[in-house]
Amino acid sequence: MTTNLHIIDHPLIQHKLTLMRRRETSTRTFRQLVNEIAMLLCYEVTRDLPLTTELINTPMEEMDAPILAGKKLCFVSVLRAGNGLLDGMLNLIPSARVGHVGLYRDHDTLQAVEYYYKVPSDIADRLVIAVDPMLATANSAIAAVQRLKDGGANNIRFLCLLAAPEGVEAFNKAHPDVPLYTAAVDRQLNEAGYILPGLGDAGDRIFGTK
Ligand code: PRP
Ligand code: URA
Repeated sequence: MTTNLHIIDHPLIQHKLTLMRRRETSTRTFRQLVNEIAMLLCYEVTRDLPLTTELINTPMEEMDAPILAGKKLCFVSVLRAGNGLLDGMLNLIPSARVGHVGLYRDHDTLQAVEYYYKVPSDIADRLVIAVDPMLATANSAIAAVQRLKDGGANNIRFLCLLAAPEGVEAFNKAHPDVPLYTAAVDRQLNEAGYILPGLGDAGDRIFGTK
């Protein structure tokens, strides 16, 4: 499998993911867990952000203290399930700019259909972290990343919660320059393009639309 794949196997993430997978988990709890897991995923996906130092005064004395080196961030939510992850990430980095790519998966063709696109005008100067909980065929992720590249983004990471091996392969083939972060790679897709064992339809479970 690809070297661009980063599996985030922190025990807290794995534990929360198991709770989310359970059929009996309520919408309220599922949404809360997405929020919590997003913070943990965000922590890992930003682990290598560069630091500089700044001279500050503590109540005791001066010190050269570490501070983020002004790396400008933009989170991009792939609507609508991406919004579940986005909220948790913004809890951790409230100053990040936010873009949205609206896509839905046509149920028959499994192709991504775009219905919305809005990102900061200086996207080319930012580290873009695109988020969507599910990477199944990867058609949505591939289309979202292509749209961001066409819009000028040139430093992109893709963060999901759960991926299928078929999707990981397709994504890496389409965008070998884009690191892919996920908490787990499941067994396979079913004939309808759903991840097995998976967690069902992420958007429906976050928003209670089923
Ligand atoms: C889900 C999910 C991804 C996509 C993954 O969205 O949030 O965007 O499917 O599938 P793929 O890798 O095969 O493209 P969906 O199309 O159900 O839209 P929603 O977020 O509005 O529910
Ligand atoms: N989208 C989802 O929300 N779940 C899947 O298993 C596949 C695509």
